[in-house]
Amino acid sequence: MKHPLAERFDGANEILAEIDSRIPHSRDHRAELRATVDAYHPERLRLVVTEIVEETATTTTFRLASPERVTLPPFLAGQYVTLFIDGTSRPYAIASSPARLDHYDLTVRRVPHGRISNLLIDTVRAGQLLTTTGPLGTFHHNPLFHGDDVVFLAGGSGVAPAMSMIREIADRGLDRAFHLIYGSRHATDVIFRDELGMLAAQHPGITVDHVIAEPDADWAGATGYLTADTIRSRAGALDDRMVYVCGPQALYPYALTQLTTLGQPRKRIRFEANGAPSDPAAQSHWPTGADPAGEVTVTVGGTSFRTPRCRPLLDALEDNGLRVEAACRSGECSLCRIRIVKGEVHTADEARLRLSDERFGYTHSCVAYPISDVELDL
Ligand code: FES
Repeated sequence: MKHPLAERFDGANEILAEIDSRIPHSRDHRAELRATVDAYHPERLRLVVTEIVEETATTTTFRLASPERVTLPPFLAGQYVTLFIDGTSRPYAIASSPARLDHYDLTVRRVPHGRISNLLIDTVRAGQLLTTTGPLGTFHHNPLFHGDDVVFLAGGSGVAPAMSMIREIADRGLDRAFHLIYGSRHATDVIFRDELGMLAAQHPGITVDHVIAEPDADWAGATGYLTADTIRSRAGALDDRMVYVCGPQALYPYALTQLTTLGQPRKRIRFEANGAPSDPAAQSHWPTGADPAGEVTVTVGGTSFRTPRCRPLLDALEDNGLRVEAACRSGECSLCRIRIVKGEVHTADEARLRLSDERFGYTHSCVAYPISDVELDL
């Protein structure tokens, strides 16, 4: 039968004949391609805890490696993996160096009343197997756009991605200026203090300033918070340097105000995604009169359950044994996308929705809150 292309394009017959002649000698590359993609971007990793280090009274590092002792997928300093545990998941920044792919270090700080951080610290032991995603996330250094002279404002365990960046500079001998300004409540809360001091002493490009909010009498360094004055006195003029920010949620609006005071353009500030908003009802488009503590009914397929309005839909679904794929739990990665069939939902400012999602009624369940009774399609 004559191919329809033959009448429309000069030379089509010759091209089709050439393709036909090659097919018997060609290989199907799909399996090889899949294996290559899986090696670099695996959906799931099964890892064993090889070491547990108590960093501070409230912070523990879990070293994870392949049980088969094979090299782990590569990542960019600043990226995270999501850990699956107890019917839910949490993203944790990789604190180790991307130059050392025999392990990933995940540094976990106890969150008061936090189910997963306390579960990890209290129950996970060396030798235990854990499941994670492969490395993910956009909060990483890009030399082309971010330059080789950067400032990092960290608070608490938000120092983990900075640690990965600093360790990479040391391991690879990178010619990069990296200034970490690291805020902690007490000096005893500082994570990686000895190693940060050692790396800063050994590498002229690495500068570390600790800022302690509630110092003891013998603390000789900077005190208070990461104010504009502190940033300016430590880092000097920002001069359009890229500034990374990672820490507790309260740090973000605070740091933005301080950096704006210093004239730093918004496009030269990078915030790490940091969970669902702790008070979604405080957002300007939360519907007037909707009591965040009030309960509504969520219906999925043949199942219905009650949940408070202030509970993210992703958490509410997990509470009721319904699993949705998720990674960042911050509105960024879009893996937790669900469709709102019926009812009203508050989608938090954090959600990076695509136009098509908005148009066809999808939202990111990790940062979406049911305002009325809702029906969902997972
Ligand atoms: S889990 Fe990433 S957007 Fe919801």
